[in-house]
Amino acid sequence: MQLQGKRALVTGSSGGIGQAIAVAFGREGADVAVHYHKDAAEAKEVVEELQRLGRRVVALQADAAAVAEMQRLVAQTVQALGGLDILVNSAGIEIRQPFLEVTEEHYDLVLDINLKGAYFCAQAAARQMVQQGTGGRIINISSIHEDVAFLNYSSYCLSKGGMRMFARTVCQELAPHRITINNIAPGAIATPINVRTLQDPTLLHELTSVIPLGRLGTPEEVAAVAVFLASDAASYVTGCTYYVDGGMTRWNKGL
Ligand code: BGC
Repeated sequence: MQLQGKRALVTGSSGGIGQAIAVAFGREGADVAVHYHKDAAEAKEVVEELQRLGRRVVALQADAAAVAEMQRLVAQTVQALGGLDILVNSAGIEIRQPFLEVTEEHYDLVLDINLKGAYFCAQAAARQMVQQGTGGRIINISSIHEDVAFLNYSSYCLSKGGMRMFARTVCQELAPHRITINNIAPGAIATPINVRTLQDPTLLHELTSVIPLGRLGTPEEVAAVAVFLASDAASYVTGCTYYVDGGMTRWNKGL
């Protein structure tokens, strides 16, 4: 087991990629705080699965857009698990809207959840890790769109591009404390965020035809990389982004 005795907080882990990461961490021996915003029932299912694995686990509610709530989330995790060794920032949303129509409300919602919440959650987690003095791991679930354009998703791209520079910048400040910070950039993964595409055969065909591996990824395929980055095996990796996208960012029509 690669994460035996580690204590992890995974934001947005009542569903999607976060859920798969919480479960994968539990399988590798970690105790886990499952964070959710609205879906208490789904969080309960994840908690039960982790309990079946024999892990210490707690479900914690918080609005990822509110800095004070993310700070409370970290404090409650520490209280429940006795410390914090790994933070995964997986809570996130996307809203499809042409740039000319984006409102301030839309902008604030996406940026507050995807970037501001993640930033201050990482800060609170890092403060705790510094105090513990035993190093730590911060993993941000960004997106291939931290790097690649995404038509009609300018606010999402802004938030993920911010996450890119966040990891690249603070890795230096955290390194003396043996805290690493890295991003995972998923491509198209079969989760609720892609439900519109998954339900439309034409859109699905268009999407898979620009993915060299010819299919969407699974949340478990993202979780496998998260386990690696959270483990001792990744002790010399910081300030990086790992792409988990079936080659999507490398696709080219070859005309
Ligand atoms: C988005 C998905 C999209 C994928 C590939 C992800 O970050 O959340 O909606 O399908 O990138 O473009």
